[in-house]
Amino acid sequence: MVLEARGLDVTPGMITLFKSVDDQSTVDALEIIYAEEVGHVAYGSKWFHFLCGRHELDPKVTFHELVQTYFKGNLKPPFNDEKRAEAGIPLDFYWPIAVS
Ligand SMILES: [Fe+2]
Repeated sequence: MVLEARGLDVTPGMITLFKSVDDQSTVDALEIIYAEEVGHVAYGSKWFHFLCGRHELDPKVTFHELVQTYFKGNLKPPFNDEKRAEAGIPLDFYWPIAVS
């Protein structure tokens, strides 16, 4: 939900970059990866919420605690809010612990 979601943030820019140098095969591969990445993040979000529910933990608070404990550095915008939402990660999961 951190690194996989980062893929949602950065892949559109990578696609634009490779389009600008007419590298269509890389663009094609990145478009597949981008489409599949939403599902990867969604699985993470689904199971994270499931496990928080099982342990009676608030998912947002728990996510913040885990990221601040185990992720070195800060979450960095810009974020792909639309695709993150599509994958089941609400804005209040990452914006409060982001550094701009
Ligand atoms: Fe992935």
